[in-house]
Amino acid sequence: MTDLIVTRRHEAVLEILFNRPDKRNAITWPMMTALNAALIEAEKASGLRAVVLRGEGNGFCAGIDVGAFPEAAEHFGEGWRENLFPLTEAYQAVANRLERLALPTIAMLHGYCLGLGFELALACDFRIAAEGTRLGLPETRLGIIPDVGGTTRLVRLVGAGRAKEIIMTGKLVDLAAAERWGILNGLVPAEDLQARVDGLIDDLAQAAPLAVSHAKRVINGMFDVERGLQLEGWAQAQLMRSQDFEVGVQAMLTRQPPSWTGR
Ligand code: COA
Repeated sequence: MTDLIVTRRHEAVLEILFNRPDKRNAITWPMMTALNAALIEAEKASGLRAVVLRGEGNGFCAGIDVGAFPEAAEHFGEGWRENLFPLTEAYQAVANRLERLALPTIAMLHGYCLGLGFELALACDFRIAAEGTRLGLPETRLGIIPDVGGTTRLVRLVGAGRAKEIIMTGKLVDLAAAERWGILNGLVPAEDLQARVDGLIDDLAQAAPLAVSHAKRVINGMFDVERGLQLEGWAQAQLMRSQDFEVGVQAMLTRQPPSWTGR
């Protein structure tokens, strides 16, 4: 089987690649586990100055694999929906590991960056996007919320008003606004994406590694994400058992508009 996550070392940079292009890099639990292993590799490696997260194929990541929800029983037991916290915590732990990496992390976005893909990008220090990237948290259009830290981290980044608009509508985010609001650190033509990311890595390499890492810890430490993560888990535990979640998943899989029941 092809590796769902591929790591490549380029001198002082570790590239972590979502590698499921036929499914638009939609994330399954085994893929999340492989991402966790790649992050451990980054933690242990010596001589690294940055980690870049990117997607193989025509996009960064299309979010959680919606079709894989029935397989959750395999990894989290038959009653996973009635007892969602272990599953939510397991996903959140990987995003937390990404956020807590001592090295600077850059999400290199192209094509689409949706749902869990966006949540993971939000756990990175920097996001650089190619023009035309479809960026959004469409979870509410599926009957759920971003519960892998996305709700909490987006509020931290842009404030409640803007985060509410993005999350409560589930609409794609206008990229120029995303850059203005600081969601994106750069928005460039697709052909300049690699050069823009390399430029940022070069700039980071001018600073002292220990100071960069401590600056990151101080900045991240100013915000209490734990409470937000718990609230996300609480909300999702209600929503995953709702009728509207079934409606949302079916609508997405059949590409039909959902008829919400409000239950
Ligand atoms: N979960 C499961 N499968 C997904 C997926 C997801 N999140 N996103 C894409 N795929 C699969 C499709 O089902 C399709 O599989 P198939 O070839 O077996 O039929 C394959 O990936 C290609 O998808 P397709 O929609 O044909 O590609 P596209 O390039 O036209 O569009 C997207 C790409 C990402 C814009 C579109 O697939 C999409 O909107 N996906 C859903 C994204 C989403 O809502 N994610 C958030 C979930 S909370």
